[in-house]
Amino acid sequence: MDNIRVEGGVPLSGRVRISGAKNAALPILTAALLADGAHTFRNVPDLRDVHTMLRMLRRLGIDAEYERGVATVQARPVLEPVAPYDLVKQMRASVLVLGPLVARYGRASVSLPGGCAIGARPIDQHLRGLEAMGAAVRLEHGYVHVDVPSGRLRGADIYLDFPTVTGTENLLAAAALAEGRTTIGNAAREPEIEELAHVLNKMGASVDGAGTDTIVVEGREQLAPVDHAIIADRIEAGTYMVAAAATRGDVLLEGVQLEHLDAVVAKLREAGVTVEREGDGVRVAHQGRLRPVDATTAPHPGFPTDMQAQLMVLMCRADGQSQIRETVFENRFMHVPELNRMGANIAVDGRTATVRGVPRLGGAQVMATDLRASASLVIAGLVAEGVTEVLRVYHIDRGYERIEEKLAGLGAHIERVSGHA
Ligand code: EPU
Repeated sequence: MDNIRVEGGVPLSGRVRISGAKNAALPILTAALLADGAHTFRNVPDLRDVHTMLRMLRRLGIDAEYERGVATVQARPVLEPVAPYDLVKQMRASVLVLGPLVARYGRASVSLPGGCAIGARPIDQHLRGLEAMGAAVRLEHGYVHVDVPSGRLRGADIYLDFPTVTGTENLLAAAALAEGRTTIGNAAREPEIEELAHVLNKMGASVDGAGTDTIVVEGREQLAPVDHAIIADRIEAGTYMVAAAATRGDVLLEGVQLEHLDAVVAKLREAGVTVEREGDGVRVAHQGRLRPVDATTAPHPGFPTDMQAQLMVLMCRADGQSQIRETVFENRFMHVPELNRMGANIAVDGRTATVRGVPRLGGAQVMATDLRASASLVIAGLVAEGVTEVLRVYHIDRGYERIEEKLAGLGAHIERVSGHA
């Protein structure tokens, strides 16, 4: 198993190009199931989760190839509309095939994802929405079986209990081929939802209101294949912003959509970090002391839970005490004990972490249990004195394209080493 070895203490400087968004690419790849023919997706990041989704499409009997950022998907009727356990257990986002399969074939079976490192993460909202659209749902042998007795979903008024991201995406894709009008209330407003809606509309769907909390979809009988370039990854961008600031560096991020990062940029500026547009890029720089800032994660446009661990590392370097509250997932502080092993001073009480800034972190061997926690440990390694080894790098490979190359390009002393577990 590969590890990442970092020798800390080098301020990052230079330019880095931000990759396509993982969490936009995943639902967009499954949207190809809605229309037979040749789809081309560009700016698709070379990530483990993307390859898992391509494997899922192949398992369904669809040709799906990937070469240097371009995914070509030759959609045709699937063999059997089933998402098996061996793929779902590798990636919860596999559940994104559910909406498109039910819409297209009137039935689908998806292995239940179960719990994961960051929380219980049920899919009840996805299923309730499909039921409102006329589907019957049955749980059996670890699978959820969804059947539409009439063969075609019908439009419905749906109101989500929580603005779930993949739930909104599943229902949006399902509604695109349903009969009549669907309204999704309390919908997720993440930029990735807008992006999926944009792609569906390019395929001939009629989706209105994506990016607001009410989405209206007029179902179509048929959709057409699409050629689309995917938006930049706002979480990858935010992660490099924090890495630049934490190392007291000066970095130009290329290809970022800054309007997707308002909450993150606001917190960085509050902490005293410089974030400014420069030409086509965004320059992030920091010198001297950092002010402590409090943050509470929330669905978009709130502060993203996917940036919580990274902000926490930054706050370890601040002058004073900050509080970080996690409201989206119930168990997303697993990086805390690892950061404390590196000399941080963080106390967790329920959903609140109190971070007291410390003068230094010290390198250590650390282990992460999820993607964003791993990224925070790499950042901690970049600022720590001495050597940090982050174990279980496969978590990082799920969501950060060539992270060690990109950081090395900014001057970091970082390498991938094949090692023990
Ligand atoms: N929830 C329910 N019932 C549901 C669905 C969700 O109770 O039917 C709860 C979850 O248990 C959780 C909360 O709602 O506590 C939020 O979950 P959400 O459904 O919004 O998350 P997701 O769709 O499973 C996506 C991203 C995550 C990101 C979250 C929150 C993708 C593929 N994944 O997950 O990304 O953290 O939204 O923004 O888009 C990551 O990239 O590292 C990552 C974990």
